[in-house]
Amino acid sequence: MAIKKPDIHILVCASFRTTGEPKGVCHRKGSTDLLSYLENEILDRGLNAQVTSTGCFKLCDKGPVMVVHPGNHWYGEIDEEKIDQILDKLEENQPAAELLLT
Ligand code: FES
Repeated sequence: MAIKKPDIHILVCASFRTTGEPKGVCHRKGSTDLLSYLENEILDRGLNAQVTSTGCFKLCDKGPVMVVHPGNHWYGEIDEEKIDQILDKLEENQPAAELLLT
């Protein structure tokens, strides 16, 4: 039986270290508090997206960092307002160009 895969995969830095302990900058800046907001928005919008919290993307000074696939779009200093803008664009299959880390 084929497994069900999401169309969109959103990675949110939770600063995990090899010990499994979240200890870095994004976590301190509240990245994990944004996960439930993100999950709820995805449900409300009916997006076939999966959210995964990750280890450090090595862009800590831009944290909290979020990466969206497909597209490999990287965003920094995310908050609820930016998540809304990013998801609005995602619904149009576009990146939120003005928020992209370059
Ligand atoms: S802790 Fe998030 S990018 Fe380093």
